[in-house]
Amino acid sequence: MAARSATTHHGAQREQWSGQLGFVLAAVGSAIGLGNIWRFPGVAYENGGGAFLIPYLVALLTAGIPVLLLDYSIGHRFRGSAPTSFRRMSRPAETLGWFQVGVSLVITLYYTAVVAWAASFMWFAATQAWGEDPEAFFFGEFLQVAESPGVGLDVVPGVLLPLVLCWVVTIAILALGVRKGVERANVVFIPTLVAMFLAIVVRALTLPGAVDGLNAFFTPDWAALADPGVWIAAYGQIFFSLSIAFGIMITYSSYLRRRANLTSTGLVVGFGNSSFELLAGIGVFSALGFMAFQQGVTVGELDTIQGIGLAFVAFPQILSLMPGGPVFGVLFFASLTLAGLTSLLSILQVISAAFQEKFGWSPRQAALLVGVPVAVVSTVLFSTTTALFVLDVTDKYINEVGVVGSAVVMTLVVGLALRRLRELQTHLNARPGVHVGGWWRLLVGLGVPLVLGYIFVTGVASLLGEPYEGYPWSFLTTIGWGGVAFAVVVALLMTFVPWRRDVDDFVAHELPARELWGRRWSSVPSGAAPHHHEEDRR
Ligand code: ALA
Repeated sequence: MAARSATTHHGAQREQWSGQLGFVLAAVGSAIGLGNIWRFPGVAYENGGGAFLIPYLVALLTAGIPVLLLDYSIGHRFRGSAPTSFRRMSRPAETLGWFQVGVSLVITLYYTAVVAWAASFMWFAATQAWGEDPEAFFFGEFLQVAESPGVGLDVVPGVLLPLVLCWVVTIAILALGVRKGVERANVVFIPTLVAMFLAIVVRALTLPGAVDGLNAFFTPDWAALADPGVWIAAYGQIFFSLSIAFGIMITYSSYLRRRANLTSTGLVVGFGNSSFELLAGIGVFSALGFMAFQQGVTVGELDTIQGIGLAFVAFPQILSLMPGGPVFGVLFFASLTLAGLTSLLSILQVISAAFQEKFGWSPRQAALLVGVPVAVVSTVLFSTTTALFVLDVTDKYINEVGVVGSAVVMTLVVGLALRRLRELQTHLNARPGVHVGGWWRLLVGLGVPLVLGYIFVTGVASLLGEPYEGYPWSFLTTIGWGGVAFAVVVALLMTFVPWRRDVDDFVAHELPARELWGRRWSSVPSGAAPHHHEEDRR
């Protein structure tokens, strides 16, 4: 029994981060993404401004950090990608892992497109190529948005080229593996991102009108707290922003060494991500205050605060007005590109790791054999004149149905069906770091499935009740539900594909003996002598 290798299922050394810092940077890199820089400020503003910070913090503490720790404990204890980890917990649960891979696959398709837009705008910002009318430039000249929603095949060369380039860069980094590729990229990109973004925020704060912007952002609309929609938005934002419940943190924590500190790291990542998000809100609203000041209107009267328009329309407008616009423009879009790229790498690693483990592929094989076909589909769908519509719908459905649904199922399966929470809590507490109390099991086992279950049902009901953004039902069904159905098909199909390596030949790290009394640990052999783990010898 003791001779079995706990480290890997196919003899080769499992990849590892070089240390705790490499992991933290990669995890922060995954969390800080497009969601922080343009999604958060708009969502906060729409949902009560300063008052939104209350549901947001509640969501962070009651669901965000607990589920982040759940992801960490699963990936670290069962040392595998999402399908491997869930299978090692219980064979049928492998399907849930593949569902998370499917959700990640759908997200990468459009996420890369937005990163490619940001990279293009870095270029445009240097010369302020958008001229007098950034709105017409973005939607008309750059994206060449079609008249009506649908899936067209009219390629826009100006979008195609950066998109292909983005895919080449991402696949190349991924092919280098966890330590040489993903970790090194984050070690360089994340400090650069933080430095650039701080410079932008400081500049924005010194612009005339900045205070009015901050007032608009922070002035609480207390009545908003009574609106369930505001709470739903807060939980949605936290899940997307923390990169939880779609396999990323399971995959990333599986590359940590045995004695790694999981809980303190989780707190650093959780609070680090939210601090960056707040910083983005402060920077963005200072800049919007400046724009309102220049136009002689109030911040509330600006109509470009939400979503994609904020980064690609409002910001170019602001940059055209401010002294030093080209420099800050390049910095802003470079920040958006780096933030997006580091998150994209993490989403792709979910897919790459799963395929590496199922088929015994190397990182390079997985990057090419999975990355290239995904890149082709992404390029075909998102370099055409209908890209914006497809993106909008895919993003809405895969987040509200796919990610939220995955979180509900995951907490129900792990907590209720498999009853693994006490084991995972013990695993967390057997390592250095902040002690996790019984509250964690209560939140993950009861609070999160209840709250997210409600959010899931409300979200699905609203998607079925009214056509999102007034798009035709046929389009919403094909693209929106189609994306979700694709993830389900991936989950079912991949579960039945036979493993090329012996995934089940695995022994989990032993837990402190006193914790075992009277409990059922199916992955810990009874009377097991201490096992030798590859990483223990390192
Ligand atoms: N966590 C990533 C983001 O915020 C996906 O964009």
